[in-house]
Amino acid sequence: MRRTIFVGNWKMNMLISSSEKLVQELICASDFVGNFDIIVAPSFTSLSAVRTLLKGSRVQLAGQNMSSKAEGARTGEVSAAMLQDAGCDYVILGHSESRQYNSESDKLISKKVLLASEITLNVILCIGESFDEYNAVKTKEVLERQLLGCLEGVSEEKLINLSIAYEPIWAIGTGQTANPDQVQDVHYFLRSWCEKSYGKKMASGIRILYGGSVDSQCSSSLMLQPDIDGLLVGGASLKSKSFYDIINSSFETGD
Ligand code: PGA
Repeated sequence: MRRTIFVGNWKMNMLISSSEKLVQELICASDFVGNFDIIVAPSFTSLSAVRTLLKGSRVQLAGQNMSSKAEGARTGEVSAAMLQDAGCDYVILGHSESRQYNSESDKLISKKVLLASEITLNVILCIGESFDEYNAVKTKEVLERQLLGCLEGVSEEKLINLSIAYEPIWAIGTGQTANPDQVQDVHYFLRSWCEKSYGKKMASGIRILYGGSVDSQCSSSLMLQPDIDGLLVGGASLKSKSFYDIINSSFETGD
């Protein structure tokens, strides 16, 4: 049984004081009962303050990115071990904004996946197609290429800490959520790809998240799909109420 996962990606938003306020509200609101994970990914500078507040709560911490080197002369970068040291259980890798603005390639991302997996830092690997690729019906081709590149050299036993987040670039921050049936079709494709590449056990265990303009209006129809195991939420995770509403409505059955 795959454990449902909700991730709030705060991106480059909020100073330490507002991060603390948000996480305090979340902890108060997160008296949820249920078998699922809640993760927040604040900026690097807020990690320590947020970690202190999260102690004893069910909310876990993620880094938004990390270096492709384990340590040493990489001014301005943060290593996998540093994230773990700062209390992170997860790291988001391959986000389309990191690919676009920092020119991150699949090859570079694969080095990060390897480093994170070596210290059992859980990886949320983001993949997704552009609007042009979507219109040209190239989604699956693009995703397969990204998976092959990002997982190159990663052995099967290291994949135990991996989740995949399907985030169509055209849906991120645009208010244009992908159609749940289409997302299901893509997630089914991704799970089948995992089965073909790594076997049934890995494919049935891996969590595949959707991200891109998720709000409480669309979360339940997305989460009703059998191959959508969780949500990666950007804008709507910046307010405790909207993040909380997304989590709550995800369990509505529509009956
Ligand atoms: P969004 O961002 O929910 O604001 O579209 C999602 C993401 O980039 O992870």
